[in-house]
Amino acid sequence: MNAVQRLTILPNEPIAPISPYLYGQFAEHLGELVYPGIWVGPDSAIPNTNGIRNDVVEALKPIHLPVLRWPGGCFADGYHWRDGIGPSTQRPMRINYWWGMAPEPNHFGTHEFIAFCRAIGTEPYFTGNVGSGTPKELSEWVEYCNFDGNSNLAEERRANGADKPFGVKFWAVGNESWGCGGSMDPEYYASLFSQFRTFMFDYADTKMHAIACGAPDCNWEWTRRFMDALKHRFWNRQHMAQSLAAHYYCGTAGTATEYTEAQWLELLSKAAAIEGIVTGHRQIMDGYDPERKISLIIDEWGAWHPVEAGKPNSGLYQQNTIRDACVAALSFDVFNNHADKIFMANMAQLINVLQALLLVQEDRCVKTPTYHVWDLYQPHKGATAVRCIAESETVSDGGAAKEFCQRMYLDKSSFALRAVQGSASVKDGRLCVTACNTHPTQPVELEIELFGAHMPQAEVVRLAADDIHAHNTFDQPDRVTLSAPEQVEAKGGRLRVSMPAGSIVRVQGAL
Ligand code: AHR
Repeated sequence: MNAVQRLTILPNEPIAPISPYLYGQFAEHLGELVYPGIWVGPDSAIPNTNGIRNDVVEALKPIHLPVLRWPGGCFADGYHWRDGIGPSTQRPMRINYWWGMAPEPNHFGTHEFIAFCRAIGTEPYFTGNVGSGTPKELSEWVEYCNFDGNSNLAEERRANGADKPFGVKFWAVGNESWGCGGSMDPEYYASLFSQFRTFMFDYADTKMHAIACGAPDCNWEWTRRFMDALKHRFWNRQHMAQSLAAHYYCGTAGTATEYTEAQWLELLSKAAAIEGIVTGHRQIMDGYDPERKISLIIDEWGAWHPVEAGKPNSGLYQQNTIRDACVAALSFDVFNNHADKIFMANMAQLINVLQALLLVQEDRCVKTPTYHVWDLYQPHKGATAVRCIAESETVSDGGAAKEFCQRMYLDKSSFALRAVQGSASVKDGRLCVTACNTHPTQPVELEIELFGAHMPQAEVVRLAADDIHAHNTFDQPDRVTLSAPEQVEAKGGRLRVSMPAGSIVRVQGAL
């Protein structure tokens, strides 16, 4: 393989502002995420503030998560919000029937979730229950959260300790309504969406951003038929949806921590295929909504490995290596490059579930390699994405992903993985370039060439490891972490940055 791989950046060719919400997260009542990942209760020996773990709050604050989706996932369409308000001792015990029939004590409900969001400085995003709920129930949840005037529901919220409204802007109308959210077809869901949405009101300063359930993977049929139903049936109801939320899990290859070099490439090829998913859905949406009033959300994404030995299958607990960090980096670079269509993306999930940012056990908390990607990519939030062309060679044609392609209805060519993939953005006269060296064994020299601008020097930060399986554990929490910043100078108008095998880099400097 050529040791030099090039990214060409066109700082004067803006794509669009990068919505900070692309760097969102997801917290479902599932396995060990909420209990004990967030909530241990005020009487716990684990240090907490009103029941919420202090270590988790301290770990999350520095990465400024823009948004957090809750309470599901599949859990959401069985969740009745009234179960989770009022005195904790009087809340009902329910069954979490999607996730191992686990007991759900409802100790963590609306007020506790809002307290957690405020503690970590994030915006709340609620998923409403359409599958087993009613328009009245969802309408009342919105009023309970957002109304500041004189109504029984606003009074009830005040009596429960929140004088001022929560101001929740983001509301999904169901989750995976084609599957665990109600096994609906797109036309039926479009009717229900319109019905539920009719009763979800704006209150004072909080304008509703309604999120419709989108397709799994590359199920183009769902997107086409939903958009068609919204546009053509009865009357044009397109204004009701502000966003459409698709899901894409790139799956696994090997296990979370054991894989060959070929399996490394296989997983990263599947991760890079998110480009095809985004492009496919946005093309269909543009056909019905050429003015792009409905944005695209990637509401669930990430790796999904076999559950760690010794943990219950229903808990979806998995370790997280430098390979998963590369999955995150590749996905973020795709999202940045589609900043003109994607408004939000929420990876699955925050703590102890799937591709988590944090793992907690008893009173210990560890940051995963994926956490450090969130940190590394922070300068992109709110910056303007600019054209970034990867002129590097292909390292994998996705051959090993054949079965996956068939399941995804994707052409194998969508899995072509380049040696280096990246994205770039400009904010306040500073350029930020991020990139991933996707190869498990070959280091590269990344050459960054700018057209129409000059960056004489730059600061470089890397996320790299000495082993492709490297990960952080409770005993070795900082094995994979960000490097100290290093300064590099441009030569002949080009910047050269060394990238170890399987690594991620951020290069930033004044233009
Ligand atoms: O993230 C785990 C599950 O994956 C979610 O509950 C569901 O929406 C999806 O199928």
